[in-house]
Amino acid sequence: MTPDQAKQLAAERACDLVQSGMRLGLGTGSTAALFVAELGRRRLDIIGVPTSEATRAQAEALGIRLATLEEQPELDLTIDGADEIDPELSLIKGGGGALLREKLVAAASRRMVVIADHSKRVERLGRFPLPVEVVPFGLETTRRRIQGCLRQLELSGEIRLRAGPGGQPFMTDGGHAILDLSLGEIPDPHGLAAVLKSTLGVVEHGLFVAMASRALIGSPEGVIEIASN
Ligand code: A5P
Repeated sequence: MTPDQAKQLAAERACDLVQSGMRLGLGTGSTAALFVAELGRRRLDIIGVPTSEATRAQAEALGIRLATLEEQPELDLTIDGADEIDPELSLIKGGGGALLREKLVAAASRRMVVIADHSKRVERLGRFPLPVEVVPFGLETTRRRIQGCLRQLELSGEIRLRAGPGGQPFMTDGGHAILDLSLGEIPDPHGLAAVLKSTLGVVEHGLFVAMASRALIGSPEGVIEIASN
C-alpha cells in the first residue's frame, strides 16, 4: 500500500463522521486535501472553514460552502492531518506552514479528528522538525531567545529558517516566518509548548497538545483508530 492509499483510507473514514448541517474545520496538507476532495464527491451540505488559502481554493473549486471563523466561531468538527502523532494524541503540525490557522480552527471546534498514514505514528514526538511561527521583525533576536529557552529545558538542535520558493524565506498566510527546530525526542511536549508560547516574537508553535480527540490512521491492516482517554 502506498502512503497516498493509506491517506485516502483515513480520509474516507473521516468523511463518514460528517453529517449534513455540520460546521466543519477543513485542514491543510496532502491528507486533508484528500478529505476535502472526498467531501466534494459526497456532496454533503456542510459549511467549511478552511485553515489555509490553499484549502480555501480547493474547497471553492469543489463547490463546498465556506465561511470564515468570524462568521462561524463555533465549529462541530475539524478534520486535519499531522506530521507526527504520539500515543497520547499529541501532535506536531505545521509542515505545510498553516499551523496558526490550523490551531485557531481546531480550538474553535468541539472535536478535532486527525487523519494520517501510519508513517506519522511515533512513540515520542520530535523526529520531525518542530515548526515555530515567528514575527519577521527581529527574527534573529527571537531565534536566540528560543535557543536560550531550549538550553534551559536541556534540549538542543539546529534551528533553521524555512525557505520558500526561490530561496526567499517561507511566508505563512499570516505574513510570518517559520523556524524549524530539529530537537530529536521531545520528552515533555506540554512543558516545551508552554515555554515557546511565552517567548517574545513567537506567534505560535506546531505542538498540538490535548487538542485531538481521535486519530484515524490508514494502514495496510485498514484504518487504525486511536482515541484520547
Ligand atoms: C500543514 O501546516 C500541516 O500541519 C499538515 O497538516 C501536516 O504537515 C500534514 O501534512 P500531510 O498530510 O501532507 O502529511
